[in-house]
Amino acid sequence: MEVIVKENYDKMSRLAAKIIAEVVREKPRAVLGLATGSTPMGTYKELIRLHKEEGLDFSQVVTFNLDEYIGLPPEHEQSYHYFMKENFFDHINIPPGNIHLPPGMVENLLEACRQYEQDIKDAGGIDIQLLGIGVNGHIAFNEPGSSLGSRTRVKTLDNNTIQNNSRFFERIEDVPKYAITMGIGTVMNSQRLLLLATGVNKAHAIAITVEGPITALVPATIVQLHRQATLVVDRQAAAELKCSYRDSPHDLSEAVAYIKRQKGKKS
Ligand code: PGA
Repeated sequence: MEVIVKENYDKMSRLAAKIIAEVVREKPRAVLGLATGSTPMGTYKELIRLHKEEGLDFSQVVTFNLDEYIGLPPEHEQSYHYFMKENFFDHINIPPGNIHLPPGMVENLLEACRQYEQDIKDAGGIDIQLLGIGVNGHIAFNEPGSSLGSRTRVKTLDNNTIQNNSRFFERIEDVPKYAITMGIGTVMNSQRLLLLATGVNKAHAIAITVEGPITALVPATIVQLHRQATLVVDRQAAAELKCSYRDSPHDLSEAVAYIKRQKGKKS
């Protein structure tokens, strides 16, 4: 697992967008796994800038979002369909047919979950999955206690998550109780993971995720087992990490310069 600590939220967001942009430039038909929440908003803003100012092309990109509330129609302001449209899709050149979110309003939920897994498979799998992390260590809506091998399914939201998300709703009773979410196994099948965290309220979850034992009580700890997981966090979210992490191991130029200096010494 690569851990990159950036000075602040803006720098974290710019690096996350750069990593995603590299994937898209290298593979124009890239399959992106996307996330909602306050954390990735800066990343989407930067990707939109890269599209508008530097021609980053999303015309062949396919996306799959992690999750959706059950019972909110796509036009509801707090639905994740609405969030993605407002904060990303309306500002880039992705064809609407390439966008996938789990449906929150279909009655045959079991079939919808099965179909979502199938759609990901048919698209060739996810190349890079963007992730936030809950204060309780959830990824997507895989709350503490979730099976680490789980697939897309319906989950009951944890009280802690309902409490945290109530800031977006008028009353806490308005927060949906259920969500349809990719499973932890679904997320782990992605070629690459990019997990972001910002702010001191995520510091504990990040410390356990990076340095703690792998446990279903903190679902994000499973990323320790992923072959290509990158965590980009700001200083505050890194505050409880015990080991030190270099500022930007993403850039290998320093290591290469070191090799060159060593070679120079010998000759
Ligand atoms: P946040 O949510 O980005 O709004 O903090 C992250 C999450 O709960 O996964």
